[in-house]
Amino acid sequence: MKARVLALIFCLTLSPAMLIAGEVEVLHWWTSGGEAKSVAVLKQLLEEEGHTWKDFAVAGGGGDTAMTVLRSRAVSGNPPTAAQVKGPQIQQWGDEGVLANLDEVAAAGSWDDLLPKVVADVMKYDGSYVAVPVNVHRVNWMWVNPEVFRQAGAMIPTTWEEFTVAAEKIKEAGFIPVAFGGQDWQEATVFEIVVLGVGGPDFYEQALVKADPAALNSPTMIKCLETFKAIKPYTDANAPGRDWNLATAMVIQGKAAMQFMGDWAKGEFTAAGKRPGVDYVAVPAPQTSGAFLFNVDSFIMFDVKDEDAQEAQQAMARLIMGEQFQQVFNVNKGSIPCRLGMVRGAFDDPALRSMDEFSSAAASGNLLPSMAHEMAVFPAVRGAIFDVVTNFYNSDVSATKAAEQLAQEVQAAAY
Ligand code: BGC
Repeated sequence: MKARVLALIFCLTLSPAMLIAGEVEVLHWWTSGGEAKSVAVLKQLLEEEGHTWKDFAVAGGGGDTAMTVLRSRAVSGNPPTAAQVKGPQIQQWGDEGVLANLDEVAAAGSWDDLLPKVVADVMKYDGSYVAVPVNVHRVNWMWVNPEVFRQAGAMIPTTWEEFTVAAEKIKEAGFIPVAFGGQDWQEATVFEIVVLGVGGPDFYEQALVKADPAALNSPTMIKCLETFKAIKPYTDANAPGRDWNLATAMVIQGKAAMQFMGDWAKGEFTAAGKRPGVDYVAVPAPQTSGAFLFNVDSFIMFDVKDEDAQEAQQAMARLIMGEQFQQVFNVNKGSIPCRLGMVRGAFDDPALRSMDEFSSAAASGNLLPSMAHEMAVFPAVRGAIFDVVTNFYNSDVSATKAAEQLAQEVQAAAY
């Protein structure tokens, strides 16, 4: 009797939204220290509304393994309720007609007013919202351990020429100049950062967004490839296969001087209790100041029959776009909120710089989608670029030959 009274009191204290509780199975690849701390925020918010979170984490930075697992679950007719999917891939899932429509929750939350157009467009299929954006990551960062630079008597580089001078000094002083993870997506990340710096924003767009064969096989691309490969002598012998967060740890621990990586790396510094401007320095990668390579994480929802699960999906979408989630998640994750007009007080200097440069880059035409992080080209083209870049980095193929291969492979993948 007492239990029944308690249950009744419990039900009466619930808000209407809490009365319908469903389960969401969420596929994502956020498994590093900073990433796990970030995704825990979403789980907590959903559970506070009475929903159940079934975690479907697939390890592997950059998410390629997660995408393979997602496809096989979908092919067998059993997709999860929600999945971390981004960029042009959202259109591909839309073509398959398997996505839930989020227009109602988007209208109630005024997403059209709150999101920059460049972000909103990616979330829509055929004019309707089918994905909810989580954040904006900036890819073209350099993460620096200032103490290592100090001990080596080196200056933090702003150009690739200065990079070589600094890297030589750091190597001589007995440190590893560049913390590097030899996995194809990390190689592609560093490659696109170099293309942006050496080729400039217009060239980046022509080569890695428009995938123009003339830009891919050009003297500028050859120079980009050479500059990219010139980083290799400044990495260590254990780089092949290393996870990105272990590379970040080398900078945190003062074993390495710098890492070229998107600002999910900041999540690792934050999780380790390190302070920007004191324990580490975040600066745009050489020659990319003022340009912004963006990478927006997002979730798609699959069309499910169960009404409680549908309710949980809508709740998840609403919570993700809410101010509380946007603040706490992005502080942990290293990214900036995707919704405009957020209070800036909670964010650190690199995040504030990102926010400002996101707006100024958008105004000057220097806001560009990341190829490596699935924002720019369809997966087949991205895969072709990855293959050539990783083969070039790990073999004796010349830069001239690799540029030819880029144009050939990309054309074969595109048609
Ligand atoms: C994602 C980030 C993630 C990183 C490393 C990127 O593609 O956008 O959210 O932290 O990969 O896994």
